[in-house]
Amino acid sequence: MEEAQEIQRGLPVLGKEAPDFEAPTTHGTIKLSDYRGKWVVLFSHPADFTPVCTSEFIGFAEKHEEFAKANVQLIGLSVDSVSSHIAWVRNIEEKFGVSIAFPVIADLSTHVAKLYGMIQEGESATVTVRTVFVIDPDGILRAMIYYPLTNGRNMDEILRLIHSLQVTATHKMATPANWQPGDAVVVPPPGTTEAAQARLSEGYDCVDWYFCKKKL
Ligand code: BEZ
Repeated sequence: MEEAQEIQRGLPVLGKEAPDFEAPTTHGTIKLSDYRGKWVVLFSHPADFTPVCTSEFIGFAEKHEEFAKANVQLIGLSVDSVSSHIAWVRNIEEKFGVSIAFPVIADLSTHVAKLYGMIQEGESATVTVRTVFVIDPDGILRAMIYYPLTNGRNMDEILRLIHSLQVTATHKMATPANWQPGDAVVVPPPGTTEAAQARLSEGYDCVDWYFCKKKL
């Protein structure tokens, strides 16, 4: 029980600095804080040489250019060793013709996994679930996604989330459900009756005082 509580304790917090770490990877030792100035997508998978994880790595690799264009550094992680990661990445290249250009953390000590609450006891006591942490160029954690072992993630949704976070960071606006780049954004709701009254005459496209959109 104590061990379970220990593992669950390290959940990071949105809007706060993402916990820094130094870790061995397929590209040598990296430090999270060395990526300041870039967006980071830190994502975990349960295990090398498994089918869902392989499909996800191929999915991330196929979108690598789009992530790079959005100033995003992808960083993978599992509790497997560097040798296992190297063998798996080479196998993906050989069998699927897809090259994995991003570093993959070998978190054998589970240090990073525990910092980010990546081991979820209800799913597995030993391996990381499918997490995604989006960290902004100042090192602030902006979004987290947790998927169970059995369900692969959607890379288009992760890219859409990145674009959405970048737009809201730049324009101090919000994005509605199913927003896509180029769509109108949502004006954050007014916090006072005075602001609510003013909102309708501020030049936005409003249905009512609390629901206004703006084309960027
Ligand atoms: C997979 O990647 O295929 C997988 C890994 C752990 C549990 C279930 C599926």
